[in-house]
Amino acid sequence: MKKWYAVIGDPIAQSMSPRMHDTWFRENGIDASYVPIHVKGEHLEEAVASLKRLGCSGWNVTVPHKSAIIPYLDRVDEEARRMNAVNTVKVLEDGTLFGTNTDGRGFVHSLQENGATPQEVGNLLIIGAGGAAAGISFALASAGFGPIAITNRTIEKAKQMSDSLVGSAALSLQDAEQDISKFGLVVQTTSVGMNFAKSGIPLDPTGISEGAIVADIIYNPLQTEFLRHAREAGGMTMNGVGMFVHQGALAFELWTGIYPDTKKMIQTISTELGGK
Ligand code: ATR
Repeated sequence: MKKWYAVIGDPIAQSMSPRMHDTWFRENGIDASYVPIHVKGEHLEEAVASLKRLGCSGWNVTVPHKSAIIPYLDRVDEEARRMNAVNTVKVLEDGTLFGTNTDGRGFVHSLQENGATPQEVGNLLIIGAGGAAAGISFALASAGFGPIAITNRTIEKAKQMSDSLVGSAALSLQDAEQDISKFGLVVQTTSVGMNFAKSGIPLDPTGISEGAIVADIIYNPLQTEFLRHAREAGGMTMNGVGMFVHQGALAFELWTGIYPDTKKMIQTISTELGGK
């Protein structure tokens, strides 16, 4: 029987995942399809039961259901638990619903695709202490990157996060800005700068050292104000397209066993977003 996959969210029309996964199914000769499904919060439980009953093999979860879906799954892994968010579900052979989160590992894969190594990067700074920051710092630490410093507008949250991550420390936005030249990698994980309406920067990156990698997980716009400042200061900038494509590639791999072509996909999506 032809397999099918989905992405659930509210809203969902803007999602680039259906085209991305359909392209990968085609490129890999897999007879499967991927559909966007608009699910309102009050229908989430019913939607999960229906997806299972209708034979869906797996699905992605996007805003606003990433945390709310957890009680309806049978098992979630450590990544998802740390982020308190699931972005990928796989229906196992026995019908069990397994949830994971590929965002953090997606970021690390994107970083590695750009040639970064733990030795080269050295000290790194995470800006933000929400779910995205938790997933990315855990994945970075698991891949051998660090030491990790975490800074956040609400310093208590940065402290909480560093308490649960061995080898990390919290610091204030002011201290992070002052010491920014010490970091070989700076990762911006907050929503500041997303969609032109929310312009601004969480901290000023202009003191970074020449050649440091400065990443923003936002991909719309392709270049946030934060990245523009970092680039002008001599940083090597990375937008969020790579992370988006790799989180999808990891979901695709979980479902099919194949890691799809990410380079071409990153180009296609960047061209599309750049043309907007
Ligand atoms: P996500 O799951 O996308 O990480 P989240 O868990 O809501 O989202 O976390 C949002 C992060 O962005 C937090 O670190 C938040 O800082 P606070 O903990 O101080 O709220 C940060 N953030 C959001 N808006 C911000 C702003 N205007 N300035 C600085 N940080 C901001």
